[in-house]
Amino acid sequence: MAAYIRALPKAELHLHIEGSLEPGMLLALAEKHGIELPYDSEAALQEAYSFTQLQDFLDIYFKGAGVLLDADDFYQLTRAYLERVHADGVVHCEIFFDPQTHTDRGVPFATVMDGISRALKDGERDLGISSRLILSFLRHLSEADAEKTLDEALPYRGEIAAVGLDSSEHGQPPEKFSRVFARARSEGFLTVAHAGEEGPPEYIRQALDDLKVVRIDHGVRCEEDLDLCRRLASEKIPLTVCPLSNTKLAVFDRMESHNLKRLMDMGLVITINSDDPAYFGGYVGANYRAVAEALSLDYDDIRALARNSITASFLPEDQKKAWLECIDAVARPD
Ligand code: ADE
Ligand code: ZN
Repeated sequence: MAAYIRALPKAELHLHIEGSLEPGMLLALAEKHGIELPYDSEAALQEAYSFTQLQDFLDIYFKGAGVLLDADDFYQLTRAYLERVHADGVVHCEIFFDPQTHTDRGVPFATVMDGISRALKDGERDLGISSRLILSFLRHLSEADAEKTLDEALPYRGEIAAVGLDSSEHGQPPEKFSRVFARARSEGFLTVAHAGEEGPPEYIRQALDDLKVVRIDHGVRCEEDLDLCRRLASEKIPLTVCPLSNTKLAVFDRMESHNLKRLMDMGLVITINSDDPAYFGGYVGANYRAVAEALSLDYDDIRALARNSITASFLPEDQKKAWLECIDAVARPD
């Protein structure tokens, strides 16, 4: 099964570039910039990556991102991610970045964009990986802050495909961002949002109705509301599910309890993604392998997940069709 997973052309649709900052690069960048950290080795960082809920992770993730200062840092980070997922058979990726995590520390929006965009262009040339960028607003900050961030993004409209919503979910309903999302849509951005990771099914409804999202990030708590599941299936709203993230953040107690196969069986469009691979123990290939094993998925399930990743992407229809044909042509070992 591992060889089949590797051979399938796949898209990754839920990846926070700041969450791909591996301990080795984190320590090297801290040294480069003379930043003191409370951790002096990769092992000490790995030991700190033990979470009981989303907020535990976010606290350490925002601190880690503090070593990203110049455009070359963002370039290196993005390049390393692309090289890593190239080895997993990823042919297209849609990458979140959190500009407020950087602009709030005095790093200019232009610096972040410069490094990431250059790496994505070089990645397409050198590795053949196509990409889209998704600007994600931090939901623990105000809507006014998000409005300022959207203003900063307008000159980069050609390079940013969509806006999203991430960070602490509890007490931060999508509805709080209705106006800024409406303006983003009127400026030509697609919209997505994290919802139903830790938050209730009602947040998924708000993301659909108030933010008019075309995908839900995570969304696994939809299972508590069968009407909502039926709606997600009939409207073919994809969920970008992140299995290793869900077990690391205790959304599910173990992989065997994950609900993604049940959601697939209800007709939902499920995709597999890594979220923050440097913190959650694996890139997209490892996520596929973990669910294949824990949920006893067969070749048809795995192929359906790879197909969904392409169908749910922002690629043009002709490119989707071409990748789907490639997926169907991959030989199975049986
Ligand atoms: N930011 C990075 N990863 C996240 C996640 N899993 N949920 C919410 N915000 C995030
Ligand atoms: Zn996420």
